[in-house]
Amino acid sequence: MNYELMVKQVKALAEDERDFVPLLSNISALIYENLDRLNWAGFYLMDQGSLLLGPFQGKVACIRIQIGKGVCGTAVAEDRTIRVPDVHEFPGHIACDSQSESEIVVPIHSGDRVVGVLDIDSPFKNRFSPEDEAGLEKLVKTIEKCCDFSRVRI
Ligand code: SME
Repeated sequence: MNYELMVKQVKALAEDERDFVPLLSNISALIYENLDRLNWAGFYLMDQGSLLLGPFQGKVACIRIQIGKGVCGTAVAEDRTIRVPDVHEFPGHIACDSQSESEIVVPIHSGDRVVGVLDIDSPFKNRFSPEDEAGLEKLVKTIEKCCDFSRVRI
């Protein structure tokens, strides 16, 4: 996947609007359209101490995730990207869609605080490579620079 192109597209989207709701909505659509073999792509944002469902593409998902729970809550607690080749092997994985087999979660920062995560699911095991991880981390760096998270209630 050409992540450099996606970074350019995110920058172009951010020229029109920096508020996180419309921008992350369009970015979830961009990711879902550009990466193959996905069944969910979207965001959870911090909301008064836990993660609240944000803009996404895919099936209905769980609304609130406690910090330290599931892949998303663990990525926030440990403040690191978590790439899960087989979700059935991840203790405490939260199955929103039973079709999901692999997942990657990248924390998003504003200043030195985690404001949310990018979460992507695939119905295939081992869907996400180290190259995907590096590409998605670059994409999140761009999101961190472009997006206004001041309305997020961390
Ligand atoms: N699987 C995630 C929950 C969110 S859904 O995948 C959209 C987790 O374990 O945190």
